[in-house]
Amino acid sequence: MFTRIAGRYDLMNSVMTGGRHHAWRRLTAEAVAAAPDGPALDLATGTGDLALAVRHAAPRRTVVGADFAEAMLRAAQPKLAARGERRVPLLAADALALPFRARAFACVTSAFLLRNLADLPAGLAEMRRVTMPGGLVAALEITRPGVPGWDAIFGLYFNRLVPLIGAAVARDRAAYTYLPQSVERFVTPAELARLMTAAGLRDVCYRRFALGTIALHIGRA
Ligand SMILES: C[S@@+](CC[C@H](N)C(=O)[O-])C[C@H]1O[C@@H](n2cnc3c(N)ncnc32)[C@H](O)[C@@H]1O
Repeated sequence: MFTRIAGRYDLMNSVMTGGRHHAWRRLTAEAVAAAPDGPALDLATGTGDLALAVRHAAPRRTVVGADFAEAMLRAAQPKLAARGERRVPLLAADALALPFRARAFACVTSAFLLRNLADLPAGLAEMRRVTMPGGLVAALEITRPGVPGWDAIFGLYFNRLVPLIGAAVARDRAAYTYLPQSVERFVTPAELARLMTAAGLRDVCYRRFALGTIALHIGRA
């Protein structure tokens, strides 16, 4: 699915969020800027936007961008080249079986990955495994607002309008029908915090923004 939509992925993000998605990634990057010295891993980097934000927030850090959809990585390449970015190596890899040694990274970030994982606890355990002691794991995700009334309005936009926008802009209604469905069946922010703790992360906390539709979780390895 991500291979199919790679070419229109960035455009769809901007249309769906009114351009706000860059600000959410900036907040994620700022949240890990204080991680210990060492390389970062942006897991499921897609077209590389969060990897670039992490580089911007901590210019001395190398950021490895990994994703299992090579078409997404191919879409990231010209963007990185246009910025003259030489410290974001890209790598095809599965988040559930990362080809890195334990404790290799000072921080591990992901944006809009977790609800796509076939095995969420296993994915969190992999993130924890490759993060050095004292390092940070940050996860940005879409979430149901959980506020009566607003939930219904958000549901209307996300379940009804987004598939139509996906059909018109990305020419892939199925992918943008899957998107709200994946949010619908994903765990709540409080449940995700518990799962991160169960994966061995400490001091797990989260904040919500975009009227409760986006959650940023941080934990320490
Ligand atoms: C919604 S996109 C997010 C891309 C990017 N992080 C962003 O902020 O725009 C989800 C990405 O997760 C990747 N992905 C999903 N499951 C994965 C897995 N098990 N291993 C690696 N990448 C995965 C997809 O290929 C896709 O690029």
